[in-house]
Order: sequence, then structure tokens, then C-alpha cells
Amino acid sequence: MTIQQVQQEILRQKREQDVCVLAHSYQAREILEIADIVGDSFYLSAQAAKAPQRGMLLCGVRFMAETVKLLSPDKRVLLANPGAGCPMAEQMDRDLIRAVRAKHPDHTVVAYINTTAALKTVCDVCVTSSSAVKIVRKLENDKILFLPDRNLGDFVRKQLPEKQIKLLQGGCPIHAAVTPRDVRNARAAHPAALLLVHPECTPDVVAAADFAGSTADIMRFAKASDRREFIIGTEGSIAEHLQYDCPEKRFYPLTKQLLCPNMKLTTLPDVLKALQGEGGEEISLDPDTLRDARKCIDRMIALGE
Ligand code: 13P
Ligand code: SF4
Repeated sequence: MTIQQVQQEILRQKREQDVCVLAHSYQAREILEIADIVGDSFYLSAQAAKAPQRGMLLCGVRFMAETVKLLSPDKRVLLANPGAGCPMAEQMDRDLIRAVRAKHPDHTVVAYINTTAALKTVCDVCVTSSSAVKIVRKLENDKILFLPDRNLGDFVRKQLPEKQIKLLQGGCPIHAAVTPRDVRNARAAHPAALLLVHPECTPDVVAAADFAGSTADIMRFAKASDRREFIIGTEGSIAEHLQYDCPEKRFYPLTKQLLCPNMKLTTLPDVLKALQGEGGEEISLDPDTLRDARKCIDRMIALGE
């Protein structure tokens, strides 16, 4: 089957079965083309809560599919490729966070959405990279424990000096591996370009950038800008999507290593197999997890929209 034939079959199956396909912007173009909802983590969560379809199929990583399940507990929610996890989401467990809470009982625990549903049950509110500053600013408590991404936490802390934000030592292995030297090399190679980075990059890299924001923020900034060249400091697919959407501009990846192998696992045949009942994984969460983790997500959507 050609790519177009697989896409046609996916469109037919999802219409027939009344399934909503959600794809994170890091997915390949051929997957974005067949999706009903495409965006960054915040947009996917906010839209998933409103989707009218009977079933949900997530193309991205496991914590995103879990978030969809939390928001639609009565629907069948599938993760297109069961092997696609986010290493950051697995870095901390409930016992660690319970112990940290016990040491800091007066702090509000803010969890990046890149965490397991189980971990969310012991946190107070979730944030995404696009909503973190807005949400933390709105919290009544000035004492914050931010987990797991120390780089995103540092980004929030710098913008909200009135808050006392304690950071835990987790992070994205892909974004955190970018170095100031990579920045110098990219700037030397493309002196006319603006540098746009994700706040999962280290504080040194963020400080050297012209703009820092979520996947969707970076795409919006680049599209609206009257500049013509951009170095993109987030997963490589974003430079590719921007180049496709804005052929008159030039987009360069900050480094060739900025590729998330987990986000790249899902293929178009995976999506079709999941719809045909021959692949994918149905997300199942126990009732306590559904109830306790959902509070964090509901609060995030209410404060972030
Ligand atoms: P966004 O909030 O920008 O979608 O980020 C999700 C993610 O996993 C970034 O690595
Ligand atoms: Fe997780 Fe980093 Fe991949 Fe995003 S880019 S899914 S944070 S490993």
C-alpha cells in the first residue's frame, strides 16, 4: 500500500468507528495529516476533553494517552505504539514525592504533564511548557515544589521572582543534552537567524536564545515573525514542519541530535493497525488513579485556558 492508500484507509476506519486521532506536533507529517487534533501537550489535553467522538487514539507518548484517558474515563483510549514512553515521565515515583511532600508540607506540588498518571495522584496541579508560567503565577501559595523538569522549573522561577520555587532534579535527556557550544556553532553557521528554544533546554541555552517557549509557541513565533531564518532548539520535526508550512523562510535544527526516539516510534501502519484492532494498547487506569490524577489535569485546564 502507498502512504496515500494507508491514509485513506485510516480516514475510512476512523469515520466508521467514530474515533478521534490526536497527534503531538513532534509526530511525522503523514500522521499529522490524518489527525483530528494536532498540537502541543496543553492543546491536546484541552481539546481531548471536548472531543465528541466515541473512541480516542493518541499518536505521541504514553503520558499523553494517559492524560486523554483521565479526561475521558468512559471512552476507549488507545496509544498507537505501546513502546512510546517519555523517559522524563518515569524519573520519579510516588514514594519519592510523598517523602518530599512530608518534608515541605506548606508547598504546592506542581507536576509537569510529562509524568505518569500514578505520579499525578500525589501532586496538586499539572502544567505544560506553554502554560507553566501562567498557572504558577495564579496559584495562591507562593511556595512551590516543581517536578520533574529542573530546566522548565528554572525558566518559570526566572519569570516569577515573587514565588519561592524549589526544583527537583529531573529533565528531558534530549533537550538537556544541547550545550552552549552547540548554540555557538549554530549561530556561527547561520548568523542572520533567530534562535528559538524549548524551555526543557538548560538555563545556559535558554539564556542564549532570542525566544523560549513550547512547541506551539515556537511555531507561532516563527510564523508571525518578519524575519526569514530561524535556528530551532526543540525536537527536529518542528524545524521540518515549519519548513513545510513556510517555504519562503529557512529553518535549521539547533543540533542534529535533537531527536526524540520515542516520539519517532509511531508510524502510519501503527495507526492503521491500532484502528483495526491488531496493534496499539488500550490505556487502563484504576478508579483511584483516575479520580486522584484527574484533579491535577482539570485544575491545569481551568487555570491555563
Ligand atoms: P510541549 O508542551 O511543547 O508539547 O512539550 C512536550 C514535550 O514532550 C516536549 O519535549
Ligand atoms: Fe519526553 Fe523529551 Fe521526548 Fe519530550 S522530547 S517526549 S520530554 S523525552
